[in-house]
Amino acid sequence: MIEIVVALAERSYPVLVGIGARHRLLDVLPIGVGRAAIVTQPGIDLPVDPGVECATFTIGDGEEAKDLGTVEDLCRSWAGWGLTRGDVVVAVGGGVVTDTAGFAAAVFHRGVAVIHVPTTLLGQVDAAIGGKTGVNLPEGKNLVGAFWQPSAVLCDIEALETLPPREYRSGLGEMAKYAFLGVEDLADLPLDEAVAACVRCKADVVAADEREGGRRAILNYGHTLAHALETAGDYDLRHGEAVAIGLVYAAELARALGRIDDARLAAHRRVVAGYDLPMTIPPTVDIDQLLGLFARDKKAVGGVTFVLDGPAGVEPVRIGDEHLLRDTLEAMR
Ligand SMILES: NC(=O)c1ccc[n+]([C@@H]2O[C@H](COP(=O)([O-])OP(=O)(O)OC[C@H]3O[C@@H](n4cnc5c(N)ncnc54)[C@H](O)[C@@H]3O)[C@@H](O)[C@H]2O)c1
Repeated sequence: MIEIVVALAERSYPVLVGIGARHRLLDVLPIGVGRAAIVTQPGIDLPVDPGVECATFTIGDGEEAKDLGTVEDLCRSWAGWGLTRGDVVVAVGGGVVTDTAGFAAAVFHRGVAVIHVPTTLLGQVDAAIGGKTGVNLPEGKNLVGAFWQPSAVLCDIEALETLPPREYRSGLGEMAKYAFLGVEDLADLPLDEAVAACVRCKADVVAADEREGGRRAILNYGHTLAHALETAGDYDLRHGEAVAIGLVYAAELARALGRIDDARLAAHRRVVAGYDLPMTIPPTVDIDQLLGLFARDKKAVGGVTFVLDGPAGVEPVRIGDEHLLRDTLEAMR
């Protein structure tokens, strides 16, 4: 079992990565916990045993289920069951489950401890780590949320065996991002070590900037275009696939701005292609709509801010040249 600590002073917690990590639940339970509310989805068949009295609460599937209605349902069910502030929520699922259950745990009784057991690759390398929780509104994704750090995260590699291939590939898109945030030779590592390397990278960034005052924004590498593609329309792209296209776009922009050389651009294409991920803009995409969405991206600070690679590594860069944004999109069709 590989153990990584997310170092946040009194909010520090362990992330265990390995085959059978879920069986360590009892070891990481906060002291004095009497009951555990397990939150999961139909189709995720990953039994966990907290070793204390527990009940399972099931939420719906997909982004539609990640809403305030589900948070209310969960909180009412927990209240009916008598969950207290001294108990724990255990979220067993992908990013939809950990984001929603994590947010419900953050607000129920003004905060109940939560342990994440991420069951998707995307959840293990990203969503379950770092304490961002939240749900969608009809007006946009992740608009309501809270920073609520888990007490522990158990990344059980065995859970990924039942993951549909498309979901696995989506996780690889998020994983590819870490290859440009300083994780060396990611593609050559066995899966448990690759997941652990990504977790370590995210843990370091989160420890340095828990609430995204600055450096944490680099975790959004590739995400400005990805969010726009996801919002713009029905292009049948999973999140990680959209991130993969976004990584190549960010590298093309950085090359055009002279921030990186041809070899570094080629390295981006090689990593994305190596994971068999897409790197072209779907032909039906409305480029004007994407440009409009860039300007609205909630990560934008005083203009269109992209996270770009460069001589000092990946960092937020403001781009004012709309022609550059447009021409680079056109060239990637
Ligand atoms: N909080 C964060 O920092 C953060 C970071 C990245 C993404 N996210 C969020 O994560 C969400 C996406 O998460 P996701 O990609 O994990 O999708 P998801 O949670 O929707 O899971 C994808 C599908 O796989 C199923 N599934 C999950 N684990 C399974 C398993 N082991 N076997 C079989 N099926 C399984 C789920 O039921 C679902 O149908 C988005 O809402 C995104 O906003 C959050």
